[in-house]
Amino acid sequence: MPSFVANANEHTGVKALMDNGLVTIPGCYIKPPSHRAVKHLIVPGVEIPVIDMAALESDREEFVQTLCMASSEWGIFQVINHGIPVETMQGMVYGVLELFDLPIEEKMKYYTEEVFVPVRYCTSMTPSQETHMEWHDHFQHYFSNREKEHPWPEKPACYKRLASSYVSSVKHLSQTLLSALSEGLGLDSNCLAKSFGDSEMILRSNYYPPCPNPDLALGMNGHTDSGGLTILFEDQVGGLQARKGDLWYDLKPIKNAFIVNIADQLEILSNGKYKSIEHRVLVQPDQTRLSIVAFCNPSRDVVIGPLPEFIDEQNPPLYRSTLYEEHITNVYTKYLDGKHSQKLQIN
Ligand code: OGA
Ligand code: NI
Repeated sequence: MPSFVANANEHTGVKALMDNGLVTIPGCYIKPPSHRAVKHLIVPGVEIPVIDMAALESDREEFVQTLCMASSEWGIFQVINHGIPVETMQGMVYGVLELFDLPIEEKMKYYTEEVFVPVRYCTSMTPSQETHMEWHDHFQHYFSNREKEHPWPEKPACYKRLASSYVSSVKHLSQTLLSALSEGLGLDSNCLAKSFGDSEMILRSNYYPPCPNPDLALGMNGHTDSGGLTILFEDQVGGLQARKGDLWYDLKPIKNAFIVNIADQLEILSNGKYKSIEHRVLVQPDQTRLSIVAFCNPSRDVVIGPLPEFIDEQNPPLYRSTLYEEHITNVYTKYLDGKHSQKLQIN
C-alpha cells in the first residue's frame, strides 16, 4: 500500500496525488476540448510497421529497405529480435519502478525544469509555463559527451547497475539502426552518426498513474521528438498513439519489442525523406503505465541542416540549418505541441 504523502501537490507529481486517493483531477490537468483525444479521429487496428531485426543477418539489403520505407512512410515502427536480453529490459523496469516508489522528499532532491542537468525529476514537461499539465511524472538523465562519470542516484541501490547496463545496450542498438538508416538514404553507413558529432543521450522514464478522468486529460501532448532517433520500451498497458494527417493510430504493445521513431534532426538531415512523427499518450482509468525512452541525439554544438547529398536544383533545402542546442532549448522552454520541425521549414 502506498503511504500518504503529506506535502503532495501538482508540483510533486501525479503519482503522489493518486497515492493520496485523489478521485477527481484538479483543473490544471483538464485539457480544453480542442486538445482532448477525439474518438472518431482514432483509427483502430491499423498495424504500424513491425520490423524483424533478425533479417539484419540474413539479408541486410532487404532489412535496410524495410527500415527506410517505415521511416519514410510512418517515421515510427516497432523492432523485434533486436538482440537486447529480456533480463536487461526487465531489470531496468524493476529499477525504474523502485525509483518512482522512493519517498517524495527523496525524489524532490532532483526536481528541476532544466533539461541539461545530469539527473532531473519533474512532472508534466515545464509545469511553471503550462496552462494545462500532462498526467505523468518523469526521471531524466542527460549524458553529455563531456561527462566522465554519470552521477546516478544512490537510491535505490540496484538502479545504477541496472540503468547503466540498459543504457549501453540501447546505445549499441541505436548505432546499428543509425547505420542502416544511413544506408537506406544511399549514404555511407557512418554518415548519420558523423553528422551527430559526439552524440549525446537523454534517458527519460515516464510514469503515468491511473487517471480518474482519462477523457479530460492527456499523459503527454502531441509532439515530435526534437533529437535524432528515439528508442522506447513500454509495458503492456498501451496508450501511445502516432498521428498521420488528422488521424491517430494506436501502437499496440508487443512484448519485449522496442518502439523506434524518427525525430526532428533526422528529418532535417534527410531533407524530409525520413519523417519525424507526431505522437501522444492517452491515460488509463485503472492502470499505471511505464515507458523508458532513450533519445539518441546530436551533440549540442553541431549545426544540423539538410545533407548536401540531397540538395540540387530540383531539390532545394526544406529546412534551415540550426545549431542543435538552439533547437532543443526552444522546444523545452516553451509550451509546444505540434510538429517542431515544420517551424524550421523554409517557405
Ligand atoms: C516522450 C514520449 C511516449 C511514451 O517521452 O517523448 O513520447 O510512451 N513518450 O511515454
Ligand atoms: Ni516523444
